[in-house]
Amino acid sequence: MAANSSEKVTVRTFKNMRAANRSITALTAYDFQFARLVDEAGVDMILVGDSLGMTMLGYETTIPVTLADMLRHTAAVVRGVRRAMVIADMPFLTYHVSPEQALINAGRFLQEAGAGGVKLEGGRAIAGTIGKLTGAGIPVLGHIGILPQSVLKEGGYRVHGRSAEEAEALLADARAVADAGAFAIVLEGLPASLAARITAELTIPTIGIGAGPDCDGQIQVMHDLLGLCQEFIPKHAKRYAHLADTVKEAVSAYRRDVTDGLFPAEENTFI
Ligand code: KIV
Repeated sequence: MAANSSEKVTVRTFKNMRAANRSITALTAYDFQFARLVDEAGVDMILVGDSLGMTMLGYETTIPVTLADMLRHTAAVVRGVRRAMVIADMPFLTYHVSPEQALINAGRFLQEAGAGGVKLEGGRAIAGTIGKLTGAGIPVLGHIGILPQSVLKEGGYRVHGRSAEEAEALLADARAVADAGAFAIVLEGLPASLAARITAELTIPTIGIGAGPDCDGQIQVMHDLLGLCQEFIPKHAKRYAHLADTVKEAVSAYRRDVTDGLFPAEENTFI
C-alpha cells in the first residue's frame, strides 16, 4: 500500500514503509476537530498521547491522566479520522498491576473508543505484558528512553543512553519490546547515534522524538508543532505555526468589535 494514498493505514503499512525506506509521520491529537485536520494533512499515525494531561487538561505531568480521560479523547479523535492509524496511550498504572489488567484496559481502547492500537511505556520490565496484549491480537506501540510516566521516580526529564551501560540496557529493552510482538517502537530522548543503532538492529519501525534523523519515522506533540503552547518549547521540537498568537489576535479583534459596536453587523443579524 502506498503511503499517503487514501487507504486506511494499518500495521502492515508501517512494515511496508520501513521496507521501502519511506519515513513514517506521526503526530499527537486529542480531539475531533484537530484530528480531522491532522488526518487530512496526510499524517500516517495519530497518537492520542497522555501528554493531553499537559496540553488539554493543564496538569504538570502525565501522572494524573485517567483511563476515562484517555477513552473519551481517543473516541473523539477516532470520530475525526479516516486514514491514519489511531494509537491510544495507556495511562499511568493501567497496565502495571498485572498483564490481565492491562489486557482488559487495552481491549477497552479498541472496543469502546475504536483505537487501532495502544502504546505502553517501558522495555524488558513490561515485555510480558506486551506479549499478553499482542497475543490477544492488540497492536502495541512500544516506548523506551524518556518515559514521562516515570518522571517522579527519575526526578525530571533527561536524555537517556549516553553511557555505554545505559545504551546497552536500552538496546536490550528495544529487543524485548520487538520480541514481544510490538509493531513499532517510540524512541524518546536518545542520542542520535544510539537511535540509529537500535533502528539498524530491529526489524520493526522506530519512531523518534528527540532521537535524531535516522529513525524510521518521527513523532511530535501537536501543540509544540503548531505553537499552541506559549511556554517552554523542547529542543527536539520545531514550530511550524504560531497559533497561540493567531488565536489571541482573533479574539482581541472580536472583543474590540463588540466593545466598539461593530459586531454583530447587518450581515450577522436576522431580520
Ligand atoms: O504522550 C505523548 O504525547 C507521547 C509522545 C511524546 C510520544 O508519548
